Amino acid sequence: MTARILDGKAMAGEIRAKVAAEAARIAAALGRPPGLAVVMVGENPASASYVRHKTRSTLETGMASFEHRLPADTSQQDLLALIARLNADPTVDGLLVQLPLPAGIDSSEALAAVDPAKDVDGFHPLNVGRLASGLPAFVPCTPLGCIALAKKAHASLAGLEAVVLGRSRIVGKPLAQLLLGENATVTIAHSKTRDIAAACRRADLLCVAIGKPEFVRGGWIKPGATVIDVGINRVAGADGKGRFVGDVAFAEAVEVAGAITPVPGGVGPMTIALLLVNTLSAACARAGLKAPAV
Ligand code: GUN
Repeated sequence: MTARILDGKAMAGEIRAKVAAEAARIAAALGRPPGLAVVMVGENPASASYVRHKTRSTLETGMASFEHRLPADTSQQDLLALIARLNADPTVDGLLVQLPLPAGIDSSEALAAVDPAKDVDGFHPLNVGRLASGLPAFVPCTPLGCIALAKKAHASLAGLEAVVLGRSRIVGKPLAQLLLGENATVTIAHSKTRDIAAACRRADLLCVAIGKPEFVRGGWIKPGATVIDVGINRVAGADGKGRFVGDVAFAEAVEVAGAITPVPGGVGPMTIALLLVNTLSAACARAGLKAPAV
């Protein structure tokens, strides 16, 4: 058996085309394009690459991009002052602080300083709580992408045994909340779980966000299961150049799974496409316009 490939790049392209059309409609109504501000502190190379992709996608879909790069030794006070300025800026609809932040910065305080109405990453405690309470909320983009990809393989997620490997605040925890909202039976497994392989083997839907290259082996996957691989890990290739692999050993998993996301080209492009959707939603909500049709 060879699994169906869940093509996140193609799906993200379709979403971005709709985002561009909606951005034009919203720009006409507002008299300015919807705007996304991204704040990055320090020089983390992976973060720099994500931020470049976010900025490029924002501009390509006709939105305004405001990129703020601060040095690694930026004080907490200066970061909070920038966030306050962007909160007050009427041309900024969405505002995110790229993670991780340097060791000297209190990330929780920074995330809580973002205006919840502009919190397109869904990391503010108010949005975290609203999601957990089943209320309308800004939802983190990577878990939204996972759900959209899973729904390509399943008309409904209700009743599925869903296992989320990883309990981060960016992916694992919000993804578990979304899966509960879809009426899946949800297990969160993590580094302290006694028998991770056994937990994975129960899954009809296995979502892996543990940040370890090719950690999940083919033998951990229930035959026919859907596998959503959130990992993006740079490893040395046979030719000495770097290449990207997921948290799942793809060559093994593709022989067992029913459907699987590739890395790259799976969850990654969906994350950015849904960030753009969240930014449109923020622009509409702030201006009292109809929610975007994406
Ligand atoms: N770092 C890794 N993923 C993300 C994300 O989705 N948002 C932000 N702000 N930082 C990240």
